[in-house]
Amino acid sequence: MSDRDLEDKDLETAPHAGLEIELRVRRIHRRDLNKVWDFLKKVFRDVIRETVEYQRPRLKKHFFEIYEEDGVEQLLFEAKKGNKFELIGYAEFAYEIVGTDNWMNHRYFDRRNMRPLFVEELAVHPDYAGMGVGSFMLEQIDHAARLRGCTHVVLEVAENNEDALKFYRKRNFQKLDAAIFLARRLNVDEELLGPRTIKMKKKPKADVKAEPKVKPDTE
Ligand SMILES: CC(C)(COP(=O)(O)OP(=O)(O)OC[C@H]1O[C@@H](n2cnc3c(N)ncnc32)[C@H](O)[C@@H]1OP(=O)(O)O)[C@@H](O)C(=O)NCCC(=O)NCCS
Repeated sequence: MSDRDLEDKDLETAPHAGLEIELRVRRIHRRDLNKVWDFLKKVFRDVIRETVEYQRPRLKKHFFEIYEEDGVEQLLFEAKKGNKFELIGYAEFAYEIVGTDNWMNHRYFDRRNMRPLFVEELAVHPDYAGMGVGSFMLEQIDHAARLRGCTHVVLEVAENNEDALKFYRKRNFQKLDAAIFLARRLNVDEELLGPRTIKMKKKPKADVKAEPKVKPDTE
């Protein structure tokens, strides 16, 4: 099934302007994993085209492993549609630096007496963007952080994910570290050298043959 098929199937009806919808939050269950993975692929499809780093786990297998990991909170935000609830937001966070491929340096926070909550993922269905879902998700995260005695909410966002950056800046997130991706263009020649002329030692055989034979002068 293509992403496009998924999108059409999942979005039975887009929200109508002015209509109030009920938004609820719940913890993830094992049975939600496939659905959430498909949701993340859809949300980050456009974002990933523009960013150096993957904004979500690269592999489905890794996403499934997160569920097994201790200390990771995975919350689903759902909109009520009739008697059903449709997934429109996903938040993932942890109170410690988790995962084996994590680059975060816990000493940075320890030295500054910071007790952070780390947001690993925040994703709102594009058809529901700008409706306050992301704000509700952050409110939930702040609430969880306070309950656990955290002093900061920490997250990573690509600088060229402009919509998201604007969203965080407006909500008082400030740059922690100066780590950005830098790249310098190198003047690189072609790997294979260009053609060149070389001098022949003797005339090529082909040319010798081509020349008209001159009969020896017998007279
Ligand atoms: C960034 C994101 C979480 C914001 O969620 P949201 O539900 O659109 O946010 P809200 O409706 O609560 O707030 C809207 C604000 O977000 C900003 N925003 C970000 N993306 C937006 C979008 N696609 N459409 C409208 N507003 C958007 C607007 O600047 C708006 O500003 P305002 O506060 O002046 O109204 C969501 O757009 C998203 O999931 N984006 C794609 C995935 C992503 O980039 N996640 C963050 C990676 S770290």
